[in-house]
Amino acid sequence: MSNTASNSTDSIAWFREASPYIHAHRGKTMVLCLPASMVAPERIDTLVADLILLSHLGLQLVLCFGLRSELDAQLTSSDQSASVVDDRRITTDAALTALLQSAGDVRARLEAQLSQGLPNTPMSGTHLSVCSGNFISAQPYGIHNGVDYLHTGTVRHVNAPTINSLLESGQLVVLPPIGYSPTGDIFNVKTEEIASEAAIALNADKLVYFVDQLPVDEAGTVIRQASSIEMNAAALNTDNKKIVNTLNCSVQSCKRGVARVHLVESNKPDALLKELFTRDGGGTLVTAGLWESIRQAQIQDVGGIIKLIEPMQQNGSLVTRSREQLELDIDSFMVCERDGMIVACAALFIPSDNADGYAQIACVATHEDYQGAGRADKLLLALEKRARTANITRILLLSTRAAHWFIQRGFNEVGVDTLPASQQSLYNAQRNSKVFEKLLK
Ligand SMILES: CC(C)(COP(=O)(O)OP(=O)(O)OC[C@H]1O[C@@H](n2cnc3c(N)ncnc32)[C@H](O)[C@@H]1OP(=O)(O)O)[C@@H](O)C(=O)NCCC(=O)NCCS
Repeated sequence: MSNTASNSTDSIAWFREASPYIHAHRGKTMVLCLPASMVAPERIDTLVADLILLSHLGLQLVLCFGLRSELDAQLTSSDQSASVVDDRRITTDAALTALLQSAGDVRARLEAQLSQGLPNTPMSGTHLSVCSGNFISAQPYGIHNGVDYLHTGTVRHVNAPTINSLLESGQLVVLPPIGYSPTGDIFNVKTEEIASEAAIALNADKLVYFVDQLPVDEAGTVIRQASSIEMNAAALNTDNKKIVNTLNCSVQSCKRGVARVHLVESNKPDALLKELFTRDGGGTLVTAGLWESIRQAQIQDVGGIIKLIEPMQQNGSLVTRSREQLELDIDSFMVCERDGMIVACAALFIPSDNADGYAQIACVATHEDYQGAGRADKLLLALEKRARTANITRILLLSTRAAHWFIQRGFNEVGVDTLPASQQSLYNAQRNSKVFEKLLK
């Protein structure tokens, strides 16, 4: 195959892989937290290209940027007292002036880049409006361990309704590391904190921190996914204050309602798109702490469902389903998620014409460590409720090993000939499953 042909095959395969994620992210709010290096003149093009792409894919974006390295460069020689203590700058008058100037420069740079769209690409001329304002109110950070942090502040309030209405009107909202007090004072606020508080106030679906390095476990292996509780422990294993601070913000954001926080590497130009649109991602995902819920499955759950059902497929108690099939059928699944892990699942397939008033239950599974606590029972009840809502009067299912489990829950064994004609032709005689039926009242 020629190079061009194989490239185009790769692109098509990639596009297919990405399509469920494109669907899942549409209309979602995402807060991005970037270091100064990513908004520097030499790197801003890549960032802007990604922002335009994400906006066109329907994501609502809030961009928070830091200015730590810019200020370091400007102040090291001129103002030694504007040092960083415990990962927080002591903001002197000179540091505040430099901050305001740098923030203005970055904003102008962003506005200029976003105005010209993506030159020399098919998206050339696409325009994304940027908006910034006094959306963050702040209060002084104060004196800690005898150190007066001067014009350094912490977030007091985020004006979420205004930001939300700007996002809904298709604007990109930019939050510089600056907050304003009701008395008219200006404060330098840590960008990680602004991003976290904004994500919480906006009830954002995602918060993305761009970091120098991803967190690693004791063996030095990058942590790909962790609950906020596990991440708390991981944060203690490093003495890098910057990472600890970002991890703490991630954990707090999860605990206060942000479903997913992603850490991606700031020095890798493709890291964000890879994390958002590929199966394996490339960064670290932090999810909310120890909790359990029964809910509709989402495309991001496919990996978890596969992990759960694989052993049962191998031992023959469940039919084998490919990843692609699961992705296509994900709307039919409900899952039980515990501490970020899928511990049980079940599916209800309703034929699209619903002519016979029947639906099929399948893939009822509970992880062996979590069996015997009523999880499958709850999933079955939730699916029966869903079936009733869809005017289904008859549920069918096929099982090889769990006959009595279903009989105890009101199912009766029936013959294969009871299956609708379309299903009979698909019946796998080799599996020799028993067919069960439950009439819904
Ligand atoms: C069947 C299954 C889903 C039950 O999950 P669970 O979350 O443990 O179910 P619950 O907690 O609601 O019910 C537990 C009860 O079911 C019983 N049970 C578990 N597996 C059973 C089986 N194969 N046959 C009969 N009863 C079973 C348990 O002994 C327990 O009984 P008890 O309450 O009297 O102690 C789980 O065992 C499983 O994943 N099995 C493998 C996959 C499978 O066969 N799925 C069905 C095909 S679609």
